[in-house]
Amino acid sequence: MSLLSGRTAVVTGGAGGIGAALSAELGSRGMSVVVADIDGAGARSVADDLSARGIPAIGVPVDVSDPESVEVLAQAAHARFGSVELLCNNAGVLLFGTVADSSMGDWRWLSSVNLEGLLNCLHAFLPRMRAGSGWRHVLNTASTHAFLPDPQGTTLYSATKHAIVGLSLGLRGELASDGIGVTILCPGQVATRILDSQRHRPAGYGRRAAEPFGTGIVPLAIEPGEVARDAVDGVLRGDAIVFSLPAEGREEFRAQVEESRRLADAAWRA
Ligand SMILES: NC(=O)c1ccc[n+]([C@@H]2O[C@H](COP(=O)([O-])OP(=O)(O)OC[C@H]3O[C@@H](n4cnc5c(N)ncnc54)[C@H](O)[C@@H]3O)[C@@H](O)[C@H]2O)c1
Repeated sequence: MSLLSGRTAVVTGGAGGIGAALSAELGSRGMSVVVADIDGAGARSVADDLSARGIPAIGVPVDVSDPESVEVLAQAAHARFGSVELLCNNAGVLLFGTVADSSMGDWRWLSSVNLEGLLNCLHAFLPRMRAGSGWRHVLNTASTHAFLPDPQGTTLYSATKHAIVGLSLGLRGELASDGIGVTILCPGQVATRILDSQRHRPAGYGRRAAEPFGTGIVPLAIEPGEVARDAVDGVLRGDAIVFSLPAEGREEFRAQVEESRRLADAAWRA
């Protein structure tokens, strides 16, 4: 029996990409899965596929940026499965633009999903998880972009992911006495629809930002299934951070992290 067997996971952003792969990986390791997404039909379709393979699953529409919608999700998960032991805060969006050229609508939409969405889910699920017992865990999807922004127009996205790392490391300490673990997932480039994130951008946040790399599947990337396996292995080990990136990108990423360390060392020396 694995730690996961017979327990329930909620995966936000579960209709596609990394979230759908996480849902399948967790289901294959014995979990019941609540697949939640703003694309309700997509969430139901992923859940139907899991159910057809004998995995208990439901698909639930949710907008993580809306606390009431997230509360409805929490109620649906508990009504169907009784408890939630693994919360995967995975829903996220990306847009490109330099800080100077981005609009406040760009920032508000990015942060409403990536940051406030994650916080809304924590607020809805944590009180219920704390009231539970036994193995419980939170998996927050950040990005390698959290560590050093690159100058190709992802600085605002990086800022939201940097905040997720900071929040999650603090949360890990806060929840230790409750016996609830926290793991941060930091993928590199993954073959998903994230370049087409603005398909879900509400009109109220203003006009779409430029899409300099198109809206197709991310190129030169690893498959979501590989990321999902790395993530679940890291959760089971209780890792604080899981990096999941292609072998050819690892040296470049290591150099980026070294660069941030070099900046910190220089500051200490000064
Ligand atoms: N693909 C990559 O290269 C990459 C790299 C690092 C981190 N990530 C992160 O992985 C996570 C998953 O992204 P992905 O790559 O699978 O992209 P994706 O676009 O395939 O999946 C994101 C999912 O989130 C859903 N979503 C968007 N807004 C939502 C909202 N308001 N409420 C609920 N669901 C919403 C989308 O419908 C979609 O199904 C994100 O947090 C992303 O930032 C992706």
